[in-house]
Formats: sequence, C-alpha cells, structure tokens
Amino acid sequence: QPVAVTLRDKMPFPIGAALNPNLLTGNATYRQLASQEFNSITAENYLKMGNVHPAQDRYDWTGSDVLLNFAEQNKQRMHGHTLIWHQSLPTWVTNFQGDSLAWEAMFKSHIQTVVSHYKDRLASFDVVNEVFVDDGTLRPSIWLTHLGPDYVARAFTYARQANPTVKLFYNEYGHEYSPKRLAATVALATDFKRRGIPIDGLGLQMHTNIGQTDANIQNAIQQVAATGLLIHISELDVRVNQAKAANYVLTAADSQAQRQKFAAIVRAYRTLVPKAQQHGITTWNLSDGDSWIPSNCSCQDFPLPFDKQYAKKPAYDGILDGL
Ligand code: XIL
Repeated sequence: QPVAVTLRDKMPFPIGAALNPNLLTGNATYRQLASQEFNSITAENYLKMGNVHPAQDRYDWTGSDVLLNFAEQNKQRMHGHTLIWHQSLPTWVTNFQGDSLAWEAMFKSHIQTVVSHYKDRLASFDVVNEVFVDDGTLRPSIWLTHLGPDYVARAFTYARQANPTVKLFYNEYGHEYSPKRLAATVALATDFKRRGIPIDGLGLQMHTNIGQTDANIQNAIQQVAATGLLIHISELDVRVNQAKAANYVLTAADSQAQRQKFAAIVRAYRTLVPKAQQHGITTWNLSDGDSWIPSNCSCQDFPLPFDKQYAKKPAYDGILDGL
C-alpha cells in the first residue's frame, strides 16, 4: 500500500475546512477525510449567534463542543466563526428592546462569553464579519443602528479583554472583485493599528469562481498582506457554473479551469504573503455534496476539492500544484 499523502502533510501553512458537527458525527467518510486532510477546522455555523446564543440567558455549546473535541483529538487548530455578523441573529436580538447602554451591554456580554468559554482552546476568532457593502461603506445592520459606526472597533476591544492572546480577525468577502471593498478592509486595518485597536489578522473569504482573474486575486492578497497582519483565506470555494444554470453538468474543461484557479490562489498566497503572516487557507465545507453554494444560488455547482462521493477532484491536485 502506498503511503497516503494528504494536504495536511504537504502544505507549508495550515490547511482547513469549515465543518458541520452533524456530518462529523453521522458520516464516517466525511469524518475520516476531515481528520486526514486538514490540520485546521472552522465552525461553519455553530458559533454563530443564532446557534450558540438562542436566548438572552442561554448559550448552547453542543455543536461547537463536537467540533472542538474532534479538532483536539486530531491535533487540529480550530478557528471561531463568528462573534458579530448581520446574519444568524436569534429572534431575541432582532426583538431586543433597550436604550444604547442596554444594547452595548448585550453586545459586549455576547462577545466576552463566547471568547471566554473555551479559554485558550480556540486559536483565533472572526470578531466581526462582513460589515462593508460593495461601495466600501458600512452595511446597514441592527448593530450599526443601535451601536453606531465604531461598534466594529469596540467588538475587538471587548474580545481582547476576554482573552489577551487569541488571534482576532476581521473577515470579509469580495476583495477580489470590488476595489472599494478591498480598500475599505485595508483602511479598517490601518485605522485600527493607528488607534491601537487590537487586531491580529484579516480573513479574505474568497468565495470565487473560475472566471475570476488571477491578477485580481493577486492584487487583493498583496494589498491585505501589506498591512502586516496575519492573512487567512478563510472560506475558499471556486464555483464552476458561472451562468448559475439549474441543469449545469461539470465538464472536463471546467474541472481543469477549477484546478488552475485553486493552484493560482495557493501560489498567490504562498508567494505574496510573508511566511510569518500565513495563518492558512480554509475551504468552505469539505465536498461538493455538503457545499453551501447550491442552496445559496438555487443552482447546481461543484466548488470544492472533493466530489459528492468524497473522491479527490482535479481541484485537489490544483492545491498541490500551487506549491
Ligand atoms: C453560510 C453557511 O455555510 C450556511 O450553511 C448558512 O446557512 C449561511 O452561512 N460568508 C460567511 C459564512 O461568513 O458564515 C457563510 O456561511 C457563507 C458566507
């Protein structure tokens, strides 16, 4: 039997996947791939407020416990996603009544409870997720309305108070297609550093597709790396069905284009992000069968390195091609 060579053995930086505790418990193939191929995992949904904090006076750690125990058993790092977001809000938050002091106390308490709960067992957190819209301005959200524009900075300060060493990330999408969003993320990092707001890293989600140019991807990575912060490609997937057709069938040509795009992203990350800033690359989900994309676009797609049967695709080799 040849020795299996896996991504976690081969990659020169942490390589991760966003995982679902129900699949981890219920599907042996998923569980085996998750442990063999990756040395980092992200909680796809189970540290989001809607799941972890279902009532104001109650937290539910069931899903995140499954993920963290799995990570520790398999000598994997776990990334916490995400403390503050405009989605996955529990109804008690959307219905929350109170003045600005009550909102601030609720916001702070959520952040500090989640950060403190696992002490130092999590390596890093996305503190705030997706605050910008495509023109680079702040997204309207319940948090912006009740807390004012500097809530993003205060979230980082509160997280740092709860844990002096955990790595704190700002996570965002669209840097490779929206120059204004890219500029806004870089400006946030620069502003935080100038004001002494604690931030360790930037997450580029990188939900991309085979039509995106390598030059745009390189430009985004190079510009965020220039901040000097840790850089995490935090939610990588590469869509092949550009027309979002319901009846799309994966062709050999698209499969090769996907392989090349994974290779280009890994190569750009490896060559444009200084080693000391490489927090790693994480794919969003594990296989085409559990990807969030088809339900999100109501279309067929195959955006990940493993197919629905959990077999390696050309995209898997693309990751290795980038080395
Ligand atoms: C997605 C999950 O994958 C889905 O299961 C869920 O229904 C919605 O959220 N950007 C993010 C992630 O930061 O949290 C999102 O995850 C995908 C887009």
